[in-house]
Amino acid sequence: MKREELIAKAKEARELSYSPYSRFKVGAAILTKDGQVFLGANIENSSYPLCMCAERNAIYNAMLHGYKKNDFAALALTADTDGPCSPCGACRQVISELFPHDAPIYMSNLKDDVQETNAEELLPFAFSEDDLK
Ligand code: THU
Repeated sequence: MKREELIAKAKEARELSYSPYSRFKVGAAILTKDGQVFLGANIENSSYPLCMCAERNAIYNAMLHGYKKNDFAALALTADTDGPCSPCGACRQVISELFPHDAPIYMSNLKDDVQETNAEELLPFAFSEDDLK
């Protein structure tokens, strides 16, 4: 699947966003090595800290369908931002643990600006399970 197609899936996911509080819709799509795509959108709550980001929902969606870190090939996210939408700090921590460090992450927006990055670039010096040993 081409990166433009995965970004189109992230836009599709964005339409599923439940964001009445921020009115900021985010969509994400994760591609597995065997060609499956799992969507995620931000889902908010009147108890604000319970809001969940699109990227984490996409990863958790894929994992709940039986896929694991090394099954993932690429991740795309999109929102109506001036430049490519960048994952928040909490998502960077989760991506660092659950998404391959060298796999492409396509940050995009509705104008189709795209910036490619990866987990290592997004969160260098990450806290990890190794620190718990
Ligand atoms: N949001 C995401 O879904 N992903 C991010 O990386 C940034 C923030 C959501 C959370 C909240 O629902 C809304 O965007 C505003 O912060």
